Amino acid sequence: MEKADIIIKNAAELITLQGPNRARVKHEMNTLGIIKRGSIAIKDGKILDVGKNLRYRAEETIDASGKTVMPGFVDPHTHLVFAGSREFELDLKLKGFSYLDILKKGGGIFYTVNKTRRASETDLIKQSIKRLNIMLLHGTTTCEAKTGYGLNTDAELRILGIQKKLNNIHKIDIISTFLGAHAVPQEYSPDEYVNIVVEEMLPKTQGMAHFCDVFCEQGVFTTKQSKIILEAGKKIGLTPKIHADEITDNGGASLAAKIGAISADHLLMSSINGLKQMAYAGVIGVLLPATPFSLMQEKYAPARKMIEIGVPVALATDLNPNCWTENMQFITQLACLKMRMTPAEAITAATFNAACSIGMNNKVGSLEKEKQADIIILDCPNHKHLPYHLGINLVETVIKKGEIINLSKLQANPPQKYT
Ligand code: NIG
Ligand code: FE
Repeated sequence: MEKADIIIKNAAELITLQGPNRARVKHEMNTLGIIKRGSIAIKDGKILDVGKNLRYRAEETIDASGKTVMPGFVDPHTHLVFAGSREFELDLKLKGFSYLDILKKGGGIFYTVNKTRRASETDLIKQSIKRLNIMLLHGTTTCEAKTGYGLNTDAELRILGIQKKLNNIHKIDIISTFLGAHAVPQEYSPDEYVNIVVEEMLPKTQGMAHFCDVFCEQGVFTTKQSKIILEAGKKIGLTPKIHADEITDNGGASLAAKIGAISADHLLMSSINGLKQMAYAGVIGVLLPATPFSLMQEKYAPARKMIEIGVPVALATDLNPNCWTENMQFITQLACLKMRMTPAEAITAATFNAACSIGMNNKVGSLEKEKQADIIILDCPNHKHLPYHLGINLVETVIKKGEIINLSKLQANPPQKYT
């Protein structure tokens, strides 16, 4: 009998997400490739085999009877590295101030930029590791991280450096995005700052980031300015991403399609025409339902419409001081209960499609032979419990690159020294 390192057996549901190696659309999003009483064999950090009643000798056998086994969550949109917190903004939100009102007063992103610039690198790393540990405890095994709380060349590059270090230190794979154009610092005019991003910052990001993102929004960066930045990013090999049509529709979805973005994120206010262009161009819509939830908004992104017209949909936390959650389980709950996605669609969006939206689908996002063994075991008998049993952590076991993570150690001993 062939030998494996670990074998997981008897899963009530083994959710493989086997299928074409491109973002799933329409009815494909409802197809999870479930194997009942499934097993999965792991060797050298990779998936050796997936099926029913597999027969391998293994160092370690995990009995997953009555449990759901699935790929680790992929969180494809986070603002991981920041200092301070903004809990006091809730009072302002309750008084009726909008997100852009708070930003215009110098709060919001600017408050966090100020805190982040002043924080030491050790402190930023420590705080980010705490967030990454919470992610791992809740089943996230891969994430994207954006800069954007530096807003000057040195501070933005420092955050890129920290993201790189975090990727080396932490078990979670971290994919870096440069978001120098997150807001216009008060000391510059928008065009002056666009020029700094293009001429000064972008050339220095080489080798440090995969993606270039822009907050394309009324009162932040116009579609024209966003295009200039994303085109410049493309020239040095950074694939575009866009914070698009979050608060107003200013053509972000359409720009994403025209410029060949891998994803457009938020999309609450996008026009149908813009969404159709995205579907046609294969741009993934990354939906962030915790953001309207944190802002106490009625309106969420039109996920049903998007799936109907063929936009591949992914889900993410948007982890940031305005919308602070590390928990992708919570995101799938909001996706189903606020955007009417089915549990299967939400799971596809939070794993395989999420991996596609950060270019990681060759390695993670599904349980298929040869892929990285990033696997979670949920203490529930089927996947429909995920958006049903609310507000608790259903994740019982996390396996990252074939290693069973000691979750209790992660909770009890947050590491102290990293640099
Ligand atoms: O995606 N909208 C722009 N950026 C973040 C929020 C950042 C912040 O408020 O600090 C977002 O929601
Ligand atoms: Fe964001």
